[in-house]
Amino acid sequence: MGDLLDERSRRAFIGHVVKAGAGAGLAAAVPRYVYAQECEPPGSPRNPTPFASDRRPSQPRRPASTLSASEIKKLQDAYGALRELAAKDPTDPRGFSHQANIHCFQCGGGGGQIHNTWLFFAWHRAELYFHERILGGLIGDPDFRLPYWSWENPEHRTIPAAYTSPNATSNPAFNPTREMSPTDTLQAWEIDQAEVANLMAIPGFSAFGGAKDAGGAVESGPHGVVHVEVGGDMGAFFTAGNDPLFYAHHCNVDKQWSDWIRASASHTNPTVRAFLNTKFFFYDENKVWTSIKVSDVLDHERTLGYAYGPPSFTVPAMRSQPTRLELPTNRSRQEITLNRQVEDEVKRSADQGTRLALHLSGLNLPAGESGIFWIFASDADARRGVPEGPGYLGYVVVVPNSKADASAGQPQGRPSVVLDVTGKLPELTSRNVLTPHVVRYVRGARPGPPEPLAVGVERATLLEQPAAVPAGGAAARD
Ligand code: C2O
Repeated sequence: MGDLLDERSRRAFIGHVVKAGAGAGLAAAVPRYVYAQECEPPGSPRNPTPFASDRRPSQPRRPASTLSASEIKKLQDAYGALRELAAKDPTDPRGFSHQANIHCFQCGGGGGQIHNTWLFFAWHRAELYFHERILGGLIGDPDFRLPYWSWENPEHRTIPAAYTSPNATSNPAFNPTREMSPTDTLQAWEIDQAEVANLMAIPGFSAFGGAKDAGGAVESGPHGVVHVEVGGDMGAFFTAGNDPLFYAHHCNVDKQWSDWIRASASHTNPTVRAFLNTKFFFYDENKVWTSIKVSDVLDHERTLGYAYGPPSFTVPAMRSQPTRLELPTNRSRQEITLNRQVEDEVKRSADQGTRLALHLSGLNLPAGESGIFWIFASDADARRGVPEGPGYLGYVVVVPNSKADASAGQPQGRPSVVLDVTGKLPELTSRNVLTPHVVRYVRGARPGPPEPLAVGVERATLLEQPAAVPAGGAAARD
């Protein structure tokens, strides 16, 4: 796949925009693709113009929770202009609803699925870039940069004020469908510094940012949690782009990628052409239908003209071959064996002060299931239903594509997680086996005894990681 649109959707896409006669030959050979109802393909594209950076000066994107009153006003004015454009000229491809649709289109609505694949970071980075330039263009400010919702900061766990104040449609950055109120906060077990430290220390891109057919740890972790917790339009990919908060959320997701790359010289993006040459399509601020490649977005500071300030963590170098221990999984793939070698690794990492993370790749959650799932080491642990103790491993989030139908829009890959198990392994290894079970978490509900679901994994790998050091010093926890 050198191109984001897979063959089936490419043809449907062409069929949609080319006059009947021209596409007829193709259409006969290919089953007709039905677009998801909520989701329109983007405008009526001509031949795309390849992206060329205009080298606009790099300006900082800043934490949304720290914006001044005048910066908040500017942001709200920009969304006001975007909404006005959509109302005034519904055919203008820059209008708000078209921008929301292009996300929908790219999550199974016809344009190929970029979630739970290695394209997750790159596609959203490109999307934010065009969104940002369109907003800046509408308010005549070339220095306008999107803010990011720094949800990992314990003081920024509420929705940033720009998006909730006023918490009414008179505020263009408000969205009335949110389930999270202006005073609700994200919870420490969902996102905290320790989790970010674990993410920043992940030794390879595939575990961090995804592979061809599997998602990465950021996507199924804090990224997913915020979608589900904010809820409403944000709670499903088909609709998420309708909420201005979506773009601030994804700027922080984008920052995680930027921070991870900068945390260590050994952190690099994939270098294969199938990744670098994948093309995405967007309208720019002048309504030019533009193609942009993954390789175009990797150096955001030089090519896209924005920066995030210093990374939140640095990751000390380790010896050249840190442990990657493939753990045997049994036939039905619902059981992971913790053998002698794991015991040896526990001792070694204790001696060397490194950490151990369990990379569960390709989680096989029951079809149609979505939401936030606590992951436990066994059925018995899961029945306790409280996320603590060595039996609680962490969580995984599956954001539905559509609110009406969690399985709509055929996902391409499966979620993966990287769980910090440093302090838990001594007890777990004494049991010899892991049988991962999940329990769905529902905010505010008081569930009865939970009915845990067994969950299979494609692969389980024990990763040795350095302890990340927060920018500002002192090792991250214990
Ligand atoms: Cu494309 Cu957070 O979703």
